[in-house]
Amino acid sequence: MTLPALDARLEAVLHLIRAEVHADIGTDHARLPLRLVRGGRVSRCVAVELNPGPLALARRMVARARLTEQIDVRQGDGFAPIQPGELGSASVTGMGAYTIRGILDRAGERLPPALVLQPNDSPLWLRTWARENSYHLRAERLLPGYWAYPVLRLERAEGPDPAYADLPAAAALRYGPLLLRKGPALLRARIEADIERLTPVAAPGREAWAELAAAREALAVVDAG
Ligand SMILES: C[S@@+](CC[C@H](N)C(=O)[O-])C[C@H]1O[C@@H](n2cnc3c(N)ncnc32)[C@H](O)[C@@H]1O
Repeated sequence: MTLPALDARLEAVLHLIRAEVHADIGTDHARLPLRLVRGGRVSRCVAVELNPGPLALARRMVARARLTEQIDVRQGDGFAPIQPGELGSASVTGMGAYTIRGILDRAGERLPPALVLQPNDSPLWLRTWARENSYHLRAERLLPGYWAYPVLRLERAEGPDPAYADLPAAAALRYGPLLLRKGPALLRARIEADIERLTPVAAPGREAWAELAAAREALAVVDAG
């Protein structure tokens, strides 16, 4: 059976995953687990889904691809259907950063040593979560799509995250330390759009003032690179 194609954002997620056992949380159509197993990037996958409609879809897709031995579809909230120590990695994609952060906060000891996250909005919340929970940022991508989709790979590690070394903290948390060092055109366009949007509304004491300062610092890092 030909597997359904992935869009650019899930293709980027796919390439940041390699594990013995992986879980895709909020799997919906289960396209990512199907491609991960078929492509040999993981040996086994747990596909977790909360809602009955997408859960039934995931079960149908996995059965149709004859991959029920390798892909275990489980119903539940986030990491609740996962055993502690069961996973090498997990992905949580296609949701708001705040929702993803809630799923990570509730996971406790079920969290695996590596995470690939793709929020549909600013990943600021996820970068701060990683710093507070001993995960280091190992890879960051920004993908063109309906809007610019960020993709992050985090790995459990002790101590300060070297990705942030020598960078202005507010700019790095907002725009991504690894992205700032590479300075892709999509990131520069986003920073410039923020500066244009924030300049007329920024005034001392307002949130826009700090955001504008971070955007200007980010542009300076990209320009220097
Ligand atoms: C917008 S879809 C994204 C699907 C897929 N991950 C992707 O990136 O294309 C979000 C899916 O996550 C599921 N979901 C939302 N909150 C969840 C939770 N706490 N636990 C498990 N699944 C959840 C929704 O039912 C929905 O199917």
